[in-house]
Amino acid sequence: MKTLIIYATKNGSVKEVAQLIRKELKGEIKLVDIHEEIIQDVSEFDNIIIGSSIYFGQIDRQIKNFIFIHRPEILQSKLAIFIMAAESRPEMMDKQIKNAIPNDIYTKAEIVSVIGSEIKLKKFSWLVRLILKYVKKITCSYKNIDKDKILELAGKFQV
Ligand SMILES: Cc1cc2nc3c(=O)[nH]c(=O)nc-3n(C[C@H](O)[C@H](O)[C@H](O)COP(=O)(O)O)c2cc1C
Repeated sequence: MKTLIIYATKNGSVKEVAQLIRKELKGEIKLVDIHEEIIQDVSEFDNIIIGSSIYFGQIDRQIKNFIFIHRPEILQSKLAIFIMAAESRPEMMDKQIKNAIPNDIYTKAEIVSVIGSEIKLKKFSWLVRLILKYVKKITCSYKNIDKDKILELAGKFQV
């Protein structure tokens, strides 16, 4: 079984989760940061796991392009999607994910899992920190990674 874990991260939380998922999987696994490596042939993978964070309601643009370009192969694979995102209202989280991911891909996925979120305030400009403070009520850095959700996702690929 060959598995592709392809992800995009701005400040590392999606990368950390991708690595944790990798540790739980067996077989041949290719871990790809989409901003660092181009993947040409997706059809060689039996399993595809796609990870992205959400910023201002959107998943990463290159992940979006990847899904668009490789849609047929992705739909042929065993698929999982994981998200790192801070929205606390479940219905809003659901809405932003369904807006960001094409419906056929969303429904094809064995699991679409929000694993948690991480904010490293020092990575952002004063303006972004101000927005986070007044719009999202976030005033300090934090990290929240749900290990059970990682195990749940990895469990979908145990044979
Ligand atoms: C400027 C900014 C905007 C964000 N916008 C959203 C958003 O619209 N919806 C959401 O659920 N989370 C949002 N988040 C939370 C991020 O998705 C979360 O911090 C995630 O863990 C970032 O992962 P990454 O560092 O791997 O890219 C935002 C975070 C920042 C700093």
